Amino acid sequence: MNILILGGGGREHSLAWAVKQNPKCDRLIVAPGNAGIAQLAETATINIEDGDAVASFCADNAIDFVIIGPEAPLAAGVSDVLRAAGLSVFGCSQAAAQLESSKAFTKAICDACDAPTAKYAHFTQSEPAKSYVTEQGAPIVIKADGLAAGKGVVVAMDLETAHAAIDDMLGGQFGDAGAEVVIEEFMEGEEASYFLLCDGETVLPVGTAQDHKRAFDGDEGPNTGGMGAYSPAPVLSDAIADKALNEIVKPTVTEMAKRGTPFSGVLYAGLMIKDGQPRLVEYNVRFGDPECQVLMMRLGGQILDLLLACAEGRLADVSPNWADDHAMTIVMAADGYPGSYKKGTVINGLEALPENSSEMTFHAGTTMVDSVVTATGGRVLNVTARGDSLKDAHAKAYSMIKKIDWPEGFYRSDIGYRAL
Ligand code: AMP
Ligand code: GLY
Repeated sequence: MNILILGGGGREHSLAWAVKQNPKCDRLIVAPGNAGIAQLAETATINIEDGDAVASFCADNAIDFVIIGPEAPLAAGVSDVLRAAGLSVFGCSQAAAQLESSKAFTKAICDACDAPTAKYAHFTQSEPAKSYVTEQGAPIVIKADGLAAGKGVVVAMDLETAHAAIDDMLGGQFGDAGAEVVIEEFMEGEEASYFLLCDGETVLPVGTAQDHKRAFDGDEGPNTGGMGAYSPAPVLSDAIADKALNEIVKPTVTEMAKRGTPFSGVLYAGLMIKDGQPRLVEYNVRFGDPECQVLMMRLGGQILDLLLACAEGRLADVSPNWADDHAMTIVMAADGYPGSYKKGTVINGLEALPENSSEMTFHAGTTMVDSVVTATGGRVLNVTARGDSLKDAHAKAYSMIKKIDWPEGFYRSDIGYRAL
């Protein structure tokens, strides 16, 4: 079968790598892809947020199955256009993507199905928002309602910071995404991510992971898209994962179906766990990046069968075949990330790295310039390894990353510290 993957980050490199291992995959195209993806698949330039453009590319290239990686095409309704054109698609509808694109929407769903989450209120005006914050007290969490590229959340430890965040967001810092703010109770605990395929009705867990959001060792520095991840996440024990499945995710999926907007795709539940009880922090409607890299390393080629079953409403008939393994990925980012950083620096040493079913360097922001791998993004490489224990995966991944010669890049040296 001919498969098109939309996206060009580390997540999509790992998806392409895993899908390619499945004998059902004949031709694989990734749009836009990156320098690493180009080594295992064809790449193409399409406006991936334009459903009609993607549909016509699919027709021209006899594509049978489309896998949508990032949230932007989902929020733009690309999967709806492709399904209407008769294509098989992994990725939720625009209506269902509101679980990620609107925090107020998700909160309303949690209310309707009694899913445990932080207490909240939402506002479009500054004065009532500030009065509410003053009444509740700090710490408190201020969130822009819409998609703000991971930057729309302020965990305010004092009222002054909370008030300033309200002014910034309602004052237009995030444009329309901040026209409404959600104010949430601060939840204590340990965070973990739970990934579940849903076909509108059936929910199938496909792994747990923990990422590292801060830029520097010891969870210091600014928030990023994620500097490393590992799977499984020990904090999400079977018992707690079951609770999250039965108290949060299944009720959400039932509620979405009841509203006539069934959820079909991957749900990424960000959870806060305290005293054995998971509560929902947020939903994303895509795989996490870099969490996907560790999930793909553990799942390998079977992921294609799972994604096809998800797209075709057959999840009740399949289940992942798990090994008793662990995976870790370390992100290498350009100096300065998540702030401004240099583009066009040269990365050497990649050819010396092992590439096999337990060791892979997934590319994110890379481009080939004159046959040289060049850094063009903030997060650039994901050095990923699998082992019998997390310690083993950690040792392999750090030994790989030390071979990379990229003076303008940096990485955290403490990925996995909570679990090791
Ligand atoms: P979100 O974009 O909603 O995932 O928020 C980004 C990060 O902010 C989360 O990963 C948490 O670390 C933190 N956060 C969000 N909401 C809360 C909350 N209600 N209580 C404590 N921390 C939170
Ligand atoms: N690593 C966090 C995310 O993908 O949202």
